[in-house]
Amino acid sequence: MKPIQTVLITGANAGLGREAARQLAMRNGVEKIYLACRNQAKAEAARNALETETGRKMFEIVLMDVTAPETVRAAVAALTTPIDAVVLNAGGTGGQKPNALTNEGVTTIFATNVLGHIVLVNELMSRQLITSTVLYASSEAARGIPKMGMQRPDLASGSPEEFESIANGNKFGPEGDPMQTYGYVKLAATLWMGAMARKHPHVRFVSMSPGGTAGTAGFDDLPFLKRVIFKHVGGVLMPLFGMMHSVETGAKRYVDGLFNPEFETGHFYASKAGYPTGALVDQVSIDATFADTTTQDNASDAMMRFA
Ligand SMILES: NC(=O)c1ccc[n+]([C@@H]2O[C@H](COP(=O)([O-])OP(=O)(O)OC[C@H]3O[C@@H](n4cnc5c(N)ncnc54)[C@H](OP(=O)(O)O)[C@@H]3O)[C@@H](O)[C@H]2O)c1
Repeated sequence: MKPIQTVLITGANAGLGREAARQLAMRNGVEKIYLACRNQAKAEAARNALETETGRKMFEIVLMDVTAPETVRAAVAALTTPIDAVVLNAGGTGGQKPNALTNEGVTTIFATNVLGHIVLVNELMSRQLITSTVLYASSEAARGIPKMGMQRPDLASGSPEEFESIANGNKFGPEGDPMQTYGYVKLAATLWMGAMARKHPHVRFVSMSPGGTAGTAGFDDLPFLKRVIFKHVGGVLMPLFGMMHSVETGAKRYVDGLFNPEFETGHFYASKAGYPTGALVDQVSIDATFADTTTQDNASDAMMRFA
């Protein structure tokens, strides 16, 4: 497999994506980083700051909104050379209206975390523009973090119909709690990664949770009370109890996932059972669903229909 010299990161203007861009720029052998962002002004501000911080002029802005597949397709169509690795990082709890449907008939929270990335990878694969690794920013929420009020996503059957209902929000209803939906959409995308790994053995597909990370904008769109609890109270208390780590530690997990061959294609790495930080373990040791090929294919087939 070709060594990783060029990397595209979605959601690269802030939080973990931006920090991953900084760490990658400091690594020998990495020559170019594409900052895939939805807002030109924010992207330029991030590029300028990254150039100052790293002393390297190697960042190129690619405009795409992962909730709008046509912008993703246009961005890939404009690429002139293949990319070695892509970090599917854009995501979160879906903005102000997480349950609102996009033109493709999926919820905004699903489109942000999953659909845009399926379209991105499909386009890169079909145009032979990806040479080495796809890394998906999953989350411990995909197997539950009860200590943080996130229950384990409970698949009824794992059928294609159930994954369709996760994508279009019917499983949760119009008032679905984005903190719970979030676990299901991360689970669905992680299963899709497993299916992709089997279908495309010449590319690595690694799912990696950055872990509970303080200081990002990840909780900013939650309703007031939850925002106060998770961001302001939790952001101060949780690091003290080892429930959150720094953005540097979180982003380093992405870099390790890209470069350390011990992280195997088709697998999902995150913290130990019950924890959102600490040592990384293969999540199949916590929940066998992650390696269930029928469930992986059901998730992939159902979600591809929206792409
Ligand atoms: N922080 C944690 O504790 C944690 C834990 C586990 C997993 N994760 C995952 O890690 C990833 C990064 O999280 P974070 O905490 O760094 O979040 P963040 O600070 O909110 O950053 C999210 C990034 O994604 C971008 N983004 C959001 N919607 C987008 C869209 N429709 N199109 C293009 N870009 C979009 C944002 O751009 P704008 O600035 O334009 O909004 C921003 O650059 C997410 O996938 C999250 O689910 C985070």
